[in-house]
Amino acid sequence: MTPARARKPSTDLIGDLVAAARKARRRAYAPYSNFHVGAAVLADGRIYPGANIENASYPLSVCAERNAVAAAVMAGKTHIEAVAVVADDADPTPPCGGCRQVLHEFGSGMLVVAESDNGRRAEWVLSALLPAAFDSASFRDR
Ligand code: THU
Repeated sequence: MTPARARKPSTDLIGDLVAAARKARRRAYAPYSNFHVGAAVLADGRIYPGANIENASYPLSVCAERNAVAAAVMAGKTHIEAVAVVADDADPTPPCGGCRQVLHEFGSGMLVVAESDNGRRAEWVLSALLPAAFDSASFRDR
């Protein structure tokens, strides 16, 4: 079982993670919303970036966080310690509800860091953003 609150990564590592998310935002494909989002997840000391990739069939668009999670899982990492999100907004943008659920799968105690366009940061523990989450424990004995 994942601990409720994992050990916080170092300030340097968090800085690197946010920088990776900011860089990833440049790769966002967002011609419909024009809202560019970059994300990066920290797993096992490595950083995996992602950006939002939209589609003309709007619901098929994929958020930056989920693309970063996919990169980590494809590298064999299934425990995520932290995620950073950088979006085109004056306020820090927290992950959407769907991404909270996907992130929860890989570490309910992960640190979530969001940085605004102009460098303002907000931090949460994922379990505070997704209380009473649904996960495999909810149907384990079936
Ligand atoms: N988006 C993300 O990439 N992450 C979030 O957590 C919030 C929303 C993207 C989805 C869509 O491409 C655009 O932002 C506008 O909703």
